[in-house]
Amino acid sequence: MSVTATAISPAVGSFRLSRSPRGIPRFRMAVSSNTVSVAPILTKLHKECATPLPLLRLVADSMAADMRAGLAVDGGSDLKMILSYVDSLPTGNERGLFYALDLGGTNFRVLRVQLGGKEERVEATEFEQVSIPQELMFGTSEELFDFIASGLAKFAQKEGGKFHLPHGRQREIGFTFSFPVKQTSIDSGILIKWTKGFAVSGTAGKDVVACLNEAMERQGLDMQVSALVNDTVGTLAGARYWDDDVMVAVILGTGTNACYVERMDAIPKLQGYKSSSGRTIINTEWGAFSKGLPLTEFDREMDAASINPGEQIFEKTISGMYLGEIVRRVLLKLAEAATLFGNSIPEKLSMPFLLRTPHLCAMQKDNSEDFQAVGSILYEVAGVESNLNARKIVVEVCDTIVKRGGRLAGAGIVGILQKMEDDSKGLIFGKRTVVAMDGGLYENYTQYRKYLQEAVTELLGLEISKNVVIEHTKDGSGIGAALLASANSKYDHNY
Ligand code: BGC
Repeated sequence: MSVTATAISPAVGSFRLSRSPRGIPRFRMAVSSNTVSVAPILTKLHKECATPLPLLRLVADSMAADMRAGLAVDGGSDLKMILSYVDSLPTGNERGLFYALDLGGTNFRVLRVQLGGKEERVEATEFEQVSIPQELMFGTSEELFDFIASGLAKFAQKEGGKFHLPHGRQREIGFTFSFPVKQTSIDSGILIKWTKGFAVSGTAGKDVVACLNEAMERQGLDMQVSALVNDTVGTLAGARYWDDDVMVAVILGTGTNACYVERMDAIPKLQGYKSSSGRTIINTEWGAFSKGLPLTEFDREMDAASINPGEQIFEKTISGMYLGEIVRRVLLKLAEAATLFGNSIPEKLSMPFLLRTPHLCAMQKDNSEDFQAVGSILYEVAGVESNLNARKIVVEVCDTIVKRGGRLAGAGIVGILQKMEDDSKGLIFGKRTVVAMDGGLYENYTQYRKYLQEAVTELLGLEISKNVVIEHTKDGSGIGAALLASANSKYDHNY
């Protein structure tokens, strides 16, 4: 198998630290003259972020109840429970050359894969990853899709070697588009709204495949989208290709979401639509979940200042885009009200999204006695000079926010499994069931992963949780989208 990769840029979801030159930090005076101590602020934070078992249980139950309500009728709950039109999962028989295009966060990826059927499986794969310039996240639909189509065109030009397309065929693409989309068929869907900091004008309410097709035409690129999938759905398909026990897929990266295999007869809102397998994949869009979450003033203020206030509350509590920002808000309060970093507050600490989740991860990894790495990160990123005590407090704040996120994500997973088990006694908990996970947060943040797993085990108990395997499937969503393009190819598969 050959794999090539190109530039990854530091971004919201990536886990690379940018080293800024050691400039002299700018300070503004502390606003408060009668400061309080750090302790009461921390105690309140711990209390409000606590996720004891009964709270986790309530979250899991509410998740299951919201799933049912969303399946009963469109708009029935926070969870959109979107039909994916993916009715058959990869079997291993898929053959041929397929492309995948992945737009979902701060990077977009293009990939090609040569599938060789049951024996050869993935014969070759190549991908490229490009970061999306910040201005395109706030630009027009045309600008964004032109950028993507031009990246795809450049990548397609380099095809060669082990990749071969039978004569006379059009190249087919699995398009992973990781935002809430109301699918209208396997290869079309209307964007409901942008998430994860995107605010592109002119796309909401439009068919995103049509947007891509128009951009490809402008590039003179002759390719066809055969499947439009959410990244969770791509991940489920990619993981299922190797393992028949995969029933759920979860993304924990810049944003978050989950999908799962559902029985058609458990979807009352369907009316009329039939799937040959009797099952389909449902994209829950669980980022919009909001019931019973332990929220703080910092969450509320971050939400109010966001470009989508009142929306994606679960996502804002547990996903990579937001954990760093919540911590920054706590630290700013500790600096202003309790002089955590001395009498003056570095200006930079007031900058939204200055502190990123990868920084938290790096700080939590610091095992040194004097928290040397914590000190350097605080200085380099926020211009903060810190003593040992302040560094310890910073790590404690990171841990509080990350623990809450990981445990709530675990509760969400149990909610989904619980709903599936209730509908099909024994078929989930009575045998091995795999939850496929992907996303930079899950992949890189050991502590987060540990908290997630602990919550799942606490909720399910030791015995049942032995049957639930939470498995990281790296980059499964790209291959998964290509596999779904193959399953929905307009050509006869056997050549
Ligand atoms: C989007 C989902 C996506 C998730 C993970 C969320 O913001 O709404 O569609 O699956 O991020 O990328």
